[in-house]
Amino acid sequence: MNQTEPYSHNQKRAFQPEKLSAPRNFSIPKIIQSDNKLPLILEIGAGKGKHALSFSAENPDKHLIAIERTRNKFEAFTKLFNQQSLDNLTPIHADAIAWTVYAIPPSSLASIYILYPNPEQHNPNQQWLNMPFFEFLLSRLQTGGEIVLATNIEAYMDNAEQQTSSLWQLPHERQVVAAESQRTHFEVKYLARGERCWQLTMTKPQGYRTRFDSWHAPAVDKDIK
Ligand SMILES: C[S@@+](CC[C@H](N)C(=O)[O-])C[C@H]1O[C@@H](n2cnc3c(N)ncnc32)[C@H](O)[C@@H]1O
Repeated sequence: MNQTEPYSHNQKRAFQPEKLSAPRNFSIPKIIQSDNKLPLILEIGAGKGKHALSFSAENPDKHLIAIERTRNKFEAFTKLFNQQSLDNLTPIHADAIAWTVYAIPPSSLASIYILYPNPEQHNPNQQWLNMPFFEFLLSRLQTGGEIVLATNIEAYMDNAEQQTSSLWQLPHERQVVAAESQRTHFEVKYLARGERCWQLTMTKPQGYRTRFDSWHAPAVDKDIK
């Protein structure tokens, strides 16, 4: 990592992936290791998997890795997953930050979904676009790849849009989510209450540079727990 190089964003504080331990019982999914793979999509905070299951069924030409860290939600997700035969979906029970650091190589994701993240109104430094980790996430995205963020909280969206422009320097588009959209459980709930939801689509431009473009996680010895 060369801290003095010019990067494509204005994030000063560097994320420190080397300080994170690998998730418990970690192993890299076969889809990431295989050579001849479908475009890889990552969903962070998949909840009970409504979006993950329908996205995978509707996009057999893509492979979705959907991560959820809360046990009861992940169990509800895998129960539904086990009732279907979707070989282009990999559900992962883990914290998305440590898992992404250890599993995802640079420039390997075609898109990333973060749908209705926890609002973190009292802890704004935990909002995804305020975190130094967001730079690492951008390093894992291919050129032309997209990050799709949705929320029902206008202040969250305003901040995300502001950070996208001034801090991360990414081309982006902000839209209102259609009232009949039903991608996730939270989206269904908010729209049924008549709330407005927003979506921000950010694109990684050609030549975008981060500190982590050639950073690879150390191999994890599965025999050491
Ligand atoms: C408000 S819920 C939304 C769930 C789903 N996307 C939906 O729209 O129905 C946010 C989810 O993100 C998960 N989450 C938050 N931070 C996470 C992280 N670092 N890694 C994995 N999951 C995370 C939470 O456990 C929670 O289930």
